[in-house]
Amino acid sequence: MTSLSGWAAEASARHLASTLPRRWRHVQAVAAKAKTLGRLVGEDADLLVASAWLHDIGYAPDISDTGFHALDGARWARREGFSERLAALIAYHSCAS
Ligand SMILES: [Fe+2]
Repeated sequence: MTSLSGWAAEASARHLASTLPRRWRHVQAVAAKAKTLGRLVGEDADLLVASAWLHDIGYAPDISDTGFHALDGARWARREGFSERLAALIAYHSCAS
């Protein structure tokens, strides 16, 4: 069974790795950092890592819509069936309002 963060990593790679390699490297680094912090958030550790994988997915050319990557990423996450909570973490990362 694939974890939520596993699904998120695959989706992130699929949408970012070839089209936005610098962004992809950044996302990989953020996910690695999130993994080190996971124990601080207990049962939300996998959700934290999943949100790290997906936080910038709204930059992907095939996902970008409004041009506001946090919003576009969150809207994509909802369309893909990810939870409201994960979509909210994407929408509001970096204190986006
Ligand atoms: Fe980022």
